[in-house]
Amino acid sequence: IDKSNFVTRPPVVTIMGHVDHGKTSLLDKIRSAKVAKGEAGGITQHISAYTVEQNGKKITFVDTPGHAAFSEMRSRGASVTDIIIIVVAADDGVKPQTEEVIAHAKASGCPIIVAMNKMDKETANPDMVKSQMAEKEMLPIDWGGDIEFIGVSAHTGDGIDDLLENILIQAEMLELQADPSSKAKATVVEATLEKGRGPVATVIVQSGTLRVGDNIVSDTTYGRVKAITNDMGQPVKELGLSETGNVLGLNDIPTSGSVMVVQDSEKEARDIATTRAEHARAKELSKSTKVSLE
Ligand code: GTP
Ligand code: NA
Ligand code: MG
Repeated sequence: IDKSNFVTRPPVVTIMGHVDHGKTSLLDKIRSAKVAKGEAGGITQHISAYTVEQNGKKITFVDTPGHAAFSEMRSRGASVTDIIIIVVAADDGVKPQTEEVIAHAKASGCPIIVAMNKMDKETANPDMVKSQMAEKEMLPIDWGGDIEFIGVSAHTGDGIDDLLENILIQAEMLELQADPSSKAKATVVEATLEKGRGPVATVIVQSGTLRVGDNIVSDTTYGRVKAITNDMGQPVKELGLSETGNVLGLNDIPTSGSVMVVQDSEKEARDIATTRAEHARAKELSKSTKVSLE
């Protein structure tokens, strides 16, 4: 590959952990602390991905649900990410979804940071968290291992700067680079059908720049980008490297985790999507034929 157009891109950080350990609270706190007042119209409204700035450097965060039912989403989350934050409530310790997340994180090969949340609670016990994590081969740096454990509170905001600084240190070591001038490739974090707007896909750009007017294909869906809103809900003309926003214009709802790719023409995008849909149908058909023959 020709790397002459490559530039440093911001890290994409996925937050994972057991249900109710405070992933969403932590993200909301980071966002409200880092976004200038008045700038964010819908800041109370939670969104699953956004970008903030720490000391002039950008970080994109992705939230994931902790419920057992969302295992699929966590494995997808692990694949779009550069760095994984495992949130463990310091009063509750390692729980089933924490263990599942450790497995995803290890399999992804991404650097891991452990955020010990709810440190404001009387019952918070960081040493308990560390020893439980150490049993899962997640050894803290201060215990001779190589994983950073940071105490935080989503309620008071304590430790959040420390967490963000650590993310930036990890990102620097990863030397994340991509070409902003190439045709865009983005990952669909989630997608829904919105009344009056049609299919809306929340994406994170992994390479290139995604623009209004681009012909796109994402799994078996295709279309032309009709409009883009950024993570503040504002209309924008494009999304750059590691940026996140909502994309309108697909003919249907793409699968979460699928990759959105820009094509040269609308015909090309449609042909790819239709071929994929036909393959998927043929596969389903052969499955049901096999079952009926048995
Ligand atoms: P799921 O998405 O359902 O898995 O939960 P979550 O991990 O996103 O947790 P959420 O942010 O919904 O928080 C769960 C509960 O813990 C809420 O009642 C929060 O107010 C509380 N909580 C979160 N962070 C803190 C914290 O730092 N300190 C205290 N005391 N409570 C917290
Ligand atoms: Na919750
Ligand atoms: Mg949550």
